[in-house]
Amino acid sequence: MDKLVIQGGSPLSGEVRVSGAKNAALPLMCASLLTGEPVRFSNLPRLKDVTTMLGLLARMGVQVSLDDRLGVELRAERVTEPLAPYDLVKTMRASILVLGPLLARCGEARVSLPGGCAIGLRPVDQHVKGLQQMGAEIRVDQGYIAARAGRLRGARIVADIVTVTGTENLMMAATLAHGTTVLENAAREPEVADLANCLNAMGARIRGAGTDVITIEGVDHLHGTAHAIMPDRIETGTFLAAAAATGGTIRLHGTDGKILDAVLDKLREAGAEVQVEPGVVSLAMRRRPKSVSLRTAPYPAFPTDMQAQFMALDAIAEGTGVITETIFENRFMHALELQRLGADIEISGNTAIVRGAPRLQGATVMATDLRASASLVIAGLVAEGETTVERIYHLDRGYESIEEKLSQLGARIRRVH
Ligand code: EPU
Repeated sequence: MDKLVIQGGSPLSGEVRVSGAKNAALPLMCASLLTGEPVRFSNLPRLKDVTTMLGLLARMGVQVSLDDRLGVELRAERVTEPLAPYDLVKTMRASILVLGPLLARCGEARVSLPGGCAIGLRPVDQHVKGLQQMGAEIRVDQGYIAARAGRLRGARIVADIVTVTGTENLMMAATLAHGTTVLENAAREPEVADLANCLNAMGARIRGAGTDVITIEGVDHLHGTAHAIMPDRIETGTFLAAAAATGGTIRLHGTDGKILDAVLDKLREAGAEVQVEPGVVSLAMRRRPKSVSLRTAPYPAFPTDMQAQFMALDAIAEGTGVITETIFENRFMHALELQRLGADIEISGNTAIVRGAPRLQGATVMATDLRASASLVIAGLVAEGETTVERIYHLDRGYESIEEKLSQLGARIRRVH
């Protein structure tokens, strides 16, 4: 298993390009199931999760042609087997995103229930409830969601909780339904809006994506299109947090500061100078960071996917920060690993009290999930001496060439096979 070995202590400095967003790419690729015509995506991030999704789609009969310029063409001329098997779903929960498109296109789907997950229970009841309201018959059979429907019917669906992939699944299913669907209490994440833009370019009629009420007028069929995947706001935020923690100066290209307000506000509160220009975000940190307190919540509030990285920042900041996680019930596993590097963190329920230490010390730590891994890398960049981050397959699921990009910014980091 690969590891990252980091010699801490160098401030990040320089320029790097941000990749396309993982959490936009995954639902977008599933949208290709809704038409027999080719759908082309550019700015595709090269990630393990993207490869897994391509493998899943290919198994269903989707023709996949990758080019060497971050592009892919997907053509679902015939869906031969509307099935997402357990061995793929257990490695990537986002596989659930095929459920809505498969039901809408084929009238049936078998998708494995995701099962346990390192960051919490993450049930899919809202996906199922919404599809049932649209007329689908759904039962659980041998660990699989077995769904059937004639043509889905438009419905008014009020989500009990805000769910990102739930909103995306129902929005995709509704594009081909008979009549109008209204999704209330919908997720407002920019990735939902990116998906809606692509679906509209395929002939769908979606209004309100990016707000908490989305209206979808069903159409008879969708057609092919070409779509550029939006930039990854979490990768952007991760590099900014790393630069802030190391006292660095960086400039990120190919990104969008406007979809990152809550994170940029917290970085400024920590003492960073942040500048946003079209397509570029720059940050300079000329002092020891000040602790920040934050509470995760659905977009546009502070994202749960940036919580771990800010815990690493608070670990070396001046003062005490209080971090409250409201989205996932078990997303503090990085705290124990950060403690191995000398961080002073006290956990009580869904709150972490982080007392900033003047320095951290290198050690061997273990990555437990994707964003936890990113926080350990940030802590390793700051810590004195050598830090080894084990189990970095989590990191490869969601960060494209992270060690290459960090090396480009002057970090002393290498991958050991
Ligand atoms: N939930 C339910 N029932 C449902 C759906 C969700 O109870 O039917 C609960 C979950 O258990 C969780 C909360 O609702 O407590 C929010 O979950 P959500 O459905 O919004 O999460 P998700 O769609 O599974 C996406 C991202 C995650 C990100 C969350 C929250 C993708 C592919 N994944 O997950 O990304 O943390 O939204 O913003 O878009 C990551 O990239 O590291 C990652 C985990």
